[in-house]
Amino acid sequence: MSDIDLDSLVSLCKRRGFIYQSSEIYGGLAAVYDYGPYGVELANNIKQLWWKDLVYGHDNIVGLDSAIFMHPKVWRASGHIANFSDPLVECRHCHSRFRADELLAQAGVKANETMSENEFNQLFDDYRHLVVCPDCGQQNFTAVRRFNLLVESNLGDFTGSGAEPVYLRGETCQGIYVNYKNIMDSTRLQLPFGIAQIGKAFRNEITARQFIFRTREFEQMELQYFVKPTEDLEEFNQWKEQRWNYYINNLGISTNNLQWHKHEKLAFYAKAAFDIEYKFPFGFQEIEGIHARGDYDLSQHQKYSGVKLDYYDPISHETFIPHIVEASSGVGRVFLMLLAEAYGEENLPDGSKRIVLHLKPALAPIKVAVFPLLRNRPELVAKAREIFDQLKVHWRCEFDDNGNIGKRYRRQDEIGTPYSVTIDFDTLANNVVTVRDRDSMKQESINVNELIAYLSSKLN
Ligand code: GAP
Repeated sequence: MSDIDLDSLVSLCKRRGFIYQSSEIYGGLAAVYDYGPYGVELANNIKQLWWKDLVYGHDNIVGLDSAIFMHPKVWRASGHIANFSDPLVECRHCHSRFRADELLAQAGVKANETMSENEFNQLFDDYRHLVVCPDCGQQNFTAVRRFNLLVESNLGDFTGSGAEPVYLRGETCQGIYVNYKNIMDSTRLQLPFGIAQIGKAFRNEITARQFIFRTREFEQMELQYFVKPTEDLEEFNQWKEQRWNYYINNLGISTNNLQWHKHEKLAFYAKAAFDIEYKFPFGFQEIEGIHARGDYDLSQHQKYSGVKLDYYDPISHETFIPHIVEASSGVGRVFLMLLAEAYGEENLPDGSKRIVLHLKPALAPIKVAVFPLLRNRPELVAKAREIFDQLKVHWRCEFDDNGNIGKRYRRQDEIGTPYSVTIDFDTLANNVVTVRDRDSMKQESINVNELIAYLSSKLN
């Protein structure tokens, strides 16, 4: 399934209202996207499944929704102002901008994105003769410079924080760290415990050429799990396993399309870091990072805020700063992965072709489509409306009376609707509807009185 090309997914997303480019009527805003009527449903389902699995599924994990604006000192303490940058080079000929590590990779040279500006320039100079501008084919680049990814906003001095600018948050987890003490005080949770958050993050990404894979505004789903220092590697290994299984069991991703990427060069404070990668149409790339971050985040915030962020262990009577295990993924990347995984182009026995999304029912934007056989027969339309009204209380449903039934099935297949219900003359005579299964395309006659129980057994 993931052998498809990115263009097919982009075209499906636009055609069927999953994703539009931001501000398209003004020519678009690069690397910013809007989620359309089906896109917002799929994205909501992705977030709900994650939240259910982590927050509802564990009695020691709680949720949070912290603000996007934060005190400027947060980003100094976290290291983002000093270090949150990508290596930027510009083509002197066409002025396109690129990440130096990505250009080097295209020339077969491996660079580590954490290298300093000097290290990058040295490496880039050594291999300059191999690097070609992907946009104009020239070989004339500027020097590499570190480009900070934080997006500055214009809140000015209203915060009383002095001359420092306020940023749109570059990652959601900082809101968790600065609320860790509040949450401990108000919930009396004891280690180990987790705080989960879903929310927007913003980054001045240099290159954004892979649709919603890398965008300048995106949503993150982040779990920060607070543990005893002696237990962090054990917890880390457990979370690694849980998160891997989540993609296979809960989201239905094939193991063949997933792999681990181990970070060889760790940040000085980190104990271990692995990414889960998915086989996108453009190759294996990260969807989620699972990192053992030591006590770095809380120590930094304690140092910069002057507020004690340590933990008193009522059993051992020790006081220490908890260590953190993080599991961080992006809604957009999971969205793109699910489309790639679910997408199929299938030849039908009658010689025609269909495009279908084999999404798990829990993820499908529309669960049930309801069709009156003929739109010009008021008695069929009225009965179909009646059934639609009964079903819509239980699931996100769609009423469609446009075109012939075959066309309506094709439309629902393309957006991944698992079941379509047709109301015909048999419904009026015998109270029976036809239910058609998206994957097998088999049709079954079901009594209207049993329809909700039937669909529940399939969907829930
Ligand atoms: N708090 C850790 C953190 O933010 P990250 O690897 O920079 O780590 C975590 O981001 C996840 O967020 C990634 O695995 C990816 O799914 C998503 N993500 C990061 N940058 C993104 C971008 N520019 N566009 C879309 N998703 C992004």
